[in-house]
Amino acid sequence: MAGSSSVSTLAKRLQGKVALITGGASGIGERTARLFARHGANVIIADIQPELGQNVCDQIQSKSDQTISYINCNITKESDMENAVNTTVSMHGKLDIMFNNAGTFANYDNIFQTEYENFKKVMDVNVYGGLLGAKHAARVMIPKKKGCILFTASTASVLYGGMPYAYTASKHAIVGVTKNLAVDLGEYGIRVNCVSPTGIVTGMTMNMFKDDKIIEDLATKNATLKGVEVDANDMAEAALFLASDESKFVSGLNLVVDGAWSLRNVTSNLLSS
Ligand SMILES: NC(=O)c1ccc[n+]([C@@H]2O[C@H](COP(=O)([O-])OP(=O)(O)OC[C@H]3O[C@@H](n4cnc5c(N)ncnc54)[C@H](O)[C@@H]3O)[C@@H](O)[C@H]2O)c1
Repeated sequence: MAGSSSVSTLAKRLQGKVALITGGASGIGERTARLFARHGANVIIADIQPELGQNVCDQIQSKSDQTISYINCNITKESDMENAVNTTVSMHGKLDIMFNNAGTFANYDNIFQTEYENFKKVMDVNVYGGLLGAKHAARVMIPKKKGCILFTASTASVLYGGMPYAYTASKHAIVGVTKNLAVDLGEYGIRVNCVSPTGIVTGMTMNMFKDDKIIEDLATKNATLKGVEVDANDMAEAALFLASDESKFVSGLNLVVDGAWSLRNVTSNLLSS
């Protein structure tokens, strides 16, 4: 399993860094928090699930020399996001990695079922919340002339995939935000990238599909790459690469982790079946 490699035998790739991870109480954010801590980062989980988030922090802390903390933060509220960044800096003196990962799904719809409230809710969390995270991270990173801002987008940012309209729109949008920020913040030494996961088992997908087998099949059957199992650890590994100095000249990238699903021409498959 990708995320289970023993770090004692590897170089710690985030030694001494400070990472703030939104949506870190569950799924991809949780796995990333665990992996970043194993690689030597102090981690702050920002989420709206205090009990779960604190529990994850306690678990990581029990095996870690770094400081792992939880902060309650609704990313759509600017005062919460500002407070999460300020608290991080007062605890650790800096913020090196801002991982804007928290997200929400949308109701399945067709174009005629599109309605403003649902659309707005999804865009608020998946786009505006991420923008607020980037804004407050940039505020403290610019004076230091370095930093790393990451987002979690989705394969829905690059393909049809049958996803709801609001979700697809939000994930395309965050890739645009990544590109804008990468250019605007480059002169301050700040790198900005995003990870686009394929469908994997997490709290969000289990709420939708209720059955982990359906989700696992979605990822592996759709992937062009065969013989590889995928889970949230693989997304954490992608985030680790983008957060570490190994990607020091990478900025503006949408790293799609989907076993080349998004490259397959679905139309040609239909014609050949
Ligand atoms: N699981 C997948 O198949 C998949 C695929 C592509 C992209 N993604 C994206 O991955 C990211 C993480 O989702 P996940 O799959 O790990 O789901 P998850 O439900 O396990 O985790 C999402 C976390 O975000 C938190 N959150 C939601 N709204 C928030 C808010 N307003 N403020 C703060 N925290 C909030 C939730 O409490 C939860 O802990 C999302 O952006 C999602 O769109 C997931």
